[in-house]
Amino acid sequence: MSAQLIDGKSIAQSIREQVKIKVDTMTSKGYRPPGLAVILVGQDPASEVYVNGKRKACKEVGFKSFSYDLPSETTQQELESLIQSLNENDEVDGILLQLPVPAHIDSTPLLDMIKPDKDVDGFHPFNLGKLAQRAPQLESCTPKGIMTLLKSTGIELKGKEAVVVGASNHVGRPMSLELLLSGCTVTTTHRFTKNLQEHVARADILVVAVGKPGIVDGSWVKEGATVIDVGINRLDNGKLIGDIGFDEAQKKAAFITPVPGGVGPMTIATLIENTLHAATKLHL
Ligand code: GUN
Repeated sequence: MSAQLIDGKSIAQSIREQVKIKVDTMTSKGYRPPGLAVILVGQDPASEVYVNGKRKACKEVGFKSFSYDLPSETTQQELESLIQSLNENDEVDGILLQLPVPAHIDSTPLLDMIKPDKDVDGFHPFNLGKLAQRAPQLESCTPKGIMTLLKSTGIELKGKEAVVVGASNHVGRPMSLELLLSGCTVTTTHRFTKNLQEHVARADILVVAVGKPGIVDGSWVKEGATVIDVGINRLDNGKLIGDIGFDEAQKKAAFITPVPGGVGPMTIATLIENTLHAATKLHL
């Protein structure tokens, strides 16, 4: 079997087009466009690429983009004051603090002080708690984007064995919750998991989000599985690869996401979707 590619790039583009139509309608009726504030602290090259992608998408769909590119020596207190003022700014519907932040900054209290209804990353404990209650408001972008990709395949999720490799705050754990709420039987593996291969081989739905190329050998994949690779790893030659051995995995899977062009564009498209959602205040 050779897997069908899940084309995140084109699904993301169609989400952005739909958002643009809604924004055009809003502005043609005299409403202000949705506003997204993106805060970048320091000069991490990968973060600069992600942030530029987010700001470009904002412009493309007609949002107002508020950009804060701050030096790496910015203090915790300066960031608190900035978030406070953005919380109070009526033109700003979404606030995003790009991670990682420099080592002297503690991101947790900063993420926690973003107003939950402007938390378009879905990282605030209120939004994570609402997801856990099966009453989602603003959902974390990467897991929600992956759910959109899974739905696009048409596969039934109820009763499926789902394995999420990686238990990070922002991807692995909310991803496991999303799959649980969709009726999957979910296993989350992490650094203390014994025999990763055994878990991977059981997975009808496999999501790998570790950030280590080759953490999952493609040959471990179950015949007919749906494989989602969240990893984006840059090799010395500049090439981007995921966490899974793609060529081997593709031979066994029914559906698989490419890297690049799979999950990456969906994270941004979902951020755009969340910001529109926040701006139209349908959720709170
Ligand atoms: N760093 C890498 N991905 C993300 C993301 O989705 N949101 C934020 N805030 N930071 C990130």
